[in-house]
Amino acid sequence: MKILVINGPNLNMLGRRQVTIYGPQTLEDIGNLLQKRAGELGVEVTFYQSNSEGDIIDFIQREAPSAQGIIINPGALTHYSFSLRDALATFDLPVIEVHLSNIYAREEWRARSVIAPAVKGQISGLGWRGYMAALDVLAAELAPETGR
Ligand code: DQA
Repeated sequence: MKILVINGPNLNMLGRRQVTIYGPQTLEDIGNLLQKRAGELGVEVTFYQSNSEGDIIDFIQREAPSAQGIIINPGALTHYSFSLRDALATFDLPVIEVHLSNIYAREEWRARSVIAPAVKGQISGLGWRGYMAALDVLAAELAPETGR
């Protein structure tokens, strides 16, 4: 089972970027934690980050047909990218939207996700553990035989 973990603009700056909001972990740290957990769960994780909306959409179009689920932190694309939402809605795959910070407790413009209507569920405000929770949920739902 393959799960795509996609990160949008500026998430490559984690660890240096507004650490009090996003935490000290780098994106590489989060990727390593996810790969370790994926190993325990017996699932394959393909980890991807881009600062370019078009590259993210190309990645989804290329990889989604051979994947079983998607975890995505779209960064600021969350708040305005209808083309990303359309790309996610193209495939009949469960998508979990993750935000490190609580987007509902910050600036007003962050409180709207145009991606949310195309996803199964959203995790917001749980830091890096939000990605782990999303992976656990997808693995449990996609492979109920693991008994989790
Ligand atoms: C974010 C929240 C977005 O508003 C912001 O633009 C990000 C990160 C989060 O993980 O909390 O880049 O998606």
